[in-house]
Amino acid sequence: MILVTGGAGFIGSNFVLDWLSQDDEPVINLDKLTYAGNINNLANINKDPRHIFIQGDIGDTALVAALLAQYKPRAIVHFAAESHVDRSIHGPAAFIETNINGTFGLLEAVRAHWTNLPAAEKSAFRFLHVSTDEVYGTLSADDAPFTETSAYAPNSPYSASKAASDHLVRSYHHTYGLPTLTTNCSNNYGPYHFPEKLIPLIITNARAGKPLPIYGDGQQVRDWLYVSDHCTAIRRVLVAGKPGEVYNIGGWNEKANLDVVHVLCDILDTLDPKSDGSYRDQITYVTDRPGHDRRYAIDARKIERELGWKPAETFETGIRKTVQWYLDNQPWVSDVQSGAYLKWVEKNYSQRQVGEEIS
Ligand code: NAD
Ligand code: DAU
Repeated sequence: MILVTGGAGFIGSNFVLDWLSQDDEPVINLDKLTYAGNINNLANINKDPRHIFIQGDIGDTALVAALLAQYKPRAIVHFAAESHVDRSIHGPAAFIETNINGTFGLLEAVRAHWTNLPAAEKSAFRFLHVSTDEVYGTLSADDAPFTETSAYAPNSPYSASKAASDHLVRSYHHTYGLPTLTTNCSNNYGPYHFPEKLIPLIITNARAGKPLPIYGDGQQVRDWLYVSDHCTAIRRVLVAGKPGEVYNIGGWNEKANLDVVHVLCDILDTLDPKSDGSYRDQITYVTDRPGHDRRYAIDARKIERELGWKPAETFETGIRKTVQWYLDNQPWVSDVQSGAYLKWVEKNYSQRQVGEEIS
């Protein structure tokens, strides 16, 4: 079996659902269920004996040691993290605690377990660390996309904490020989995406008749990847990745934020039209994110060349499926927009000034 951390979050739950739809190998899912973790994401497998859910902290080394001793997973896929840049600006401490100290505790428990495995199991063992393109910092318009050898230059407390965790993972391979794999992926979107992030926030605000907040001039560029393509890439790296290696994962889908918001409005105008006007009328320019990275872009040629992975979805197909998913899953949306969510929205948006439209 494998042990997944953070498997009740956005990407982790998509990964667990994908895994069990393709494979009979059981999954132990260790998740603290923070505000971002949602057990309802896993409702379709709540009676599936191949899925063992454990609520707990990755930094609880005694718990992790006990799980490793009891279940003897052949691999760890480590998703658990604090993941939202804006939250890291308002409160970095949780990011240091989970992304750095938590990953350190997890690595220590795994190292102790792995060291005592018989030789064959030891060499077959894998620790796959799921990371982000944000560790490489920001690009200007004419820079080449990030490769696996781009220098680290994180700019937010979130990306700095992920960079630190990447370095720890690297050191556990280099120093102890732990068979690690690190993936650095671009922006994901798709089902179960928590509506604090741009794409689900725009879809849910649009339908609720609320403003669609664009930070700054809306010309910041992200490289979008449909979440199931990220899951396929991780499975491929787990099977064929070389221990100690890093693989960049991206969709070759660079889009400016304003263009993404326009596409979302246009799809909603078709699938769920308003009684008058367009969803574009709700677009509102607000104060920019401090330290906002201008552009991310991933050069995904290494994973394509060495492991034969390519995304299956284009932005056009993936974004349409995503909007349709949110339209079809209104109870999930209502459920996650609870009291704590509303407090976050108030904190993040109430102090941003509303500006004039920039043409
Ligand atoms: P998410 O915030 O949706 O989910 C994180 C999950 O981790 C939640 O279920 C949460 O309960 C759990 N968690 C948090 N702290 C924990 C702890 N101390 N112990 C156990 N569980 C804990 O995040 P996501 O968007 O699904 O991202 C998953 C991973 O992928 C993260 O490591 C993130 O850095 C990375 N990543 C995300 C993206 C993206 O676009 N979302 C892109 C590249 C990489
Ligand atoms: O690049 C990978 C990263 O992508 C992951 O590591 C992070 O976990 C994930 O959250 C995501 O980070 P971003 O900051 O790029 O995603 P977010 O959805 O928060 O914002 C996307 C862009 O949209 C960014 O330029 C900020 C902008 N934005 C965001 C929000 C929430 C707005 O203009 N308005 C908003 O209200």
